[in-house]
Amino acid sequence: MKFENRTAFITGAAGRIGRATARELGRYGVKLFLADIQLAALEEFCNTLQQEGVEAHPILLDVTDPEKIRETCNSVLAKAGKVDILVNNAGKWPQGSILDTSDEKWQEVLELNLTSVFRVTKAFLPSMREHSYGRIVNLGSIAGEVGLPGYCAYAASKGGVILLTKTMAMELASCNITVNSVSPGMIQDVSRPHNGTWLGRSGTGDEVARAIAFLASDDAGYITGADLPVDGGRILGPKGLDWKLSSAN
Ligand SMILES: NC(=O)c1ccc[n+]([C@@H]2O[C@H](COP(=O)([O-])OP(=O)(O)OC[C@H]3O[C@@H](n4cnc5c(N)ncnc54)[C@H](O)[C@@H]3O)[C@@H](O)[C@H]2O)c1
Repeated sequence: MKFENRTAFITGAAGRIGRATARELGRYGVKLFLADIQLAALEEFCNTLQQEGVEAHPILLDVTDPEKIRETCNSVLAKAGKVDILVNNAGKWPQGSILDTSDEKWQEVLELNLTSVFRVTKAFLPSMREHSYGRIVNLGSIAGEVGLPGYCAYAASKGGVILLTKTMAMELASCNITVNSVSPGMIQDVSRPHNGTWLGRSGTGDEVARAIAFLASDDAGYITGADLPVDGGRILGPKGLDWKLSSAN
């Protein structure tokens, strides 16, 4: 994959998919600004990356704090000059059906998973427009494509992320800024057998990271508004029918 002198900002970078994405982009020489609420974990991770020759800067940022987002964005741009790649990855998925999700919980999940994507993106847009270049990759979820009972706020927030992605893709196309989402499903620290996916296993953070990196690369310039599921085929038609590929064909 091609990355020509690129700088990336990744939220939720201390987590499973955030770390894997940082590692993947770092392999291609992308300069990294890594944000999370877990500063100690992030500092340790950045030290490791730096020892491997990757330029990585840890940043304490709560993406639900609009003032802090603006400050962080300004200081990153002052240091780096530009941010070419933005990965809106911070998120969480608390359980709760419509009946047992309070107003407060609903607001909290929407603020973190959806509103933060709007705010962090908005903060970096003037600079991307000035440089006429941008690759924005948002983390959706298969729950945002087909729903997920017992996770009503989460599914709604991720559905919002997917449609915000498509809308921004249309709005920002003339500025040479692409906006896509990656929708993982069944991702764990290591791949394990899983009956719910057509591939018969769960996926790993590295597998999601490679999809994110491709959409963030210079090579993906003609892809915008796409939502790419990385889910082992989880949301394809129902699994469970007794079906086998005939060896005769
Ligand atoms: N793991 C999966 O199976 C899966 C499936 C679908 C979607 N996703 C999405 O992928 C993204 C990453 O998931 P993951 O599996 O790496 O989760 P994770 O819990 O390992 O990482 C999430 C990171 O976000 C950080 N974070 C939480 N609140 C924050 C805040 N207010 N400000 C800044 N950072 C904050 C956490 O500290 C953590 O490091 C999420 O948006 C998630 O919804 C994951």
